[in-house]
Amino acid sequence: MYKEKLAIHGGEPVRTEPMPPPYAGASVYGEEEERAVLEVIRSKSPYRYYGPNVLGKVREFEKAFSKKIGIEYTLGVTSGTASLVVALKAAGIGPGDKVIVPACTFLATPGAVVCAGAVPVFADIDESMNIDPDAIEKVVDKHTKAIIPVPILGNPCQMDRIMEIAHKYNLVVIEDVAQSCGSKYKGRYSGTFGDINCFSLQINKIITTGDGGAVVTNDPKLYERAVRYHDQGMFREKEGFLSKSSADDVFIGQNYRMSEITGAIAVEQLKKLDYIVESMRKIKYNIKDQIRDIPGIGFRRINDEEGDAGNSLIIYLENPEKAKEFREALNAEGIPASFLYNGEPIYMLPQIFNKKTADSSGFPFNQFDEEIVYEKDMCPKAWDIMQRTATINFSPAFTEKDAEDVVKAIHKVAKYIL
Ligand SMILES: Cc1ncc(COP(=O)(O)O)c(C=O)c1O
Repeated sequence: MYKEKLAIHGGEPVRTEPMPPPYAGASVYGEEEERAVLEVIRSKSPYRYYGPNVLGKVREFEKAFSKKIGIEYTLGVTSGTASLVVALKAAGIGPGDKVIVPACTFLATPGAVVCAGAVPVFADIDESMNIDPDAIEKVVDKHTKAIIPVPILGNPCQMDRIMEIAHKYNLVVIEDVAQSCGSKYKGRYSGTFGDINCFSLQINKIITTGDGGAVVTNDPKLYERAVRYHDQGMFREKEGFLSKSSADDVFIGQNYRMSEITGAIAVEQLKKLDYIVESMRKIKYNIKDQIRDIPGIGFRRINDEEGDAGNSLIIYLENPEKAKEFREALNAEGIPASFLYNGEPIYMLPQIFNKKTADSSGFPFNQFDEEIVYEKDMCPKAWDIMQRTATINFSPAFTEKDAEDVVKAIHKVAKYIL
């Protein structure tokens, strides 16, 4: 039977012009963001707390974000990583504590735990690539204080089961929604289930200000502690600048304050969230429907398809070798396909695996009677799945023609390789 030649073998690629870059929020930057930034510049007041004519853009973003996702308090911060550190400190997590994180997440999740003075413990994932609720109990011990579920690339976590287990063991839940703003589980936005939850506005994220983040909670006490930690221990709106209040809940903080310029962009990006998510979902499910029946192709399980933010299509192949071949062949056809985090559990990165911090004291890993040890095979499911994936990332800039090319290339490559 005649088969066209794969581009990787010297054939004609499906596509020669580059695919739209997968920067969802940034791809819809327009006059609205321009105008908002200019307004702040013209006000000569880029700082949220004072200046000649503060426009209150950060506050506006916080209010709008709370209203959008349905939560009482939002605090704008400088990054997703900052949001995790602030949330952990607000929850009182520190030396001698362990925090459960999934084996498949970005370095920032366990990194923030270490920054807070605690130690990350890794739980395995399931077919959704998110934390496996059944794996949580296996790693809980008397030091465990919190758990950070991470909805990976648009796929909401099974928050009902996670909350149940967290209650059983009295764990604080901190959702790290960095990659999945706008995703929902059973009709409710990710980031509204846990005690105090985190978002990122970094360039790869669904809405973006370049860098930026948000902490959200329904708990006034956690909110107050988050405000204090992010602003050098102060709660200016309550007690003014450098108050000498010595209430029990005053403590030393850091500076993770969001600037008015960031706030201004965030306000405009938030207005576009629904459009971004709807566009990506449409493209993704259009492609998925046309490749569903190809033998040898499987898909990441989506925990709630209606709540999928649609930023990524993750294909499962039979084994790591096939997945590598498949990705390389797709790339040669002009369709970028990647895998997450080198295809390995995040604890394999030497910083984590070797427990390296910026100093040589051994802190915070030396705060326990037993030695903290990370072993390669701690999370076998993560190893199995992460090696076998091909991921295609979307943005609202994807056109129907782009989707057609993706479908064409996948069929072409599958015919040869699978
Ligand atoms: C799951 C996850 N958590 C946290 C972060 C950190 O966010 P940021 O880059 O805004 O610090 C990221 C991405 O960068 C992420 O993907």
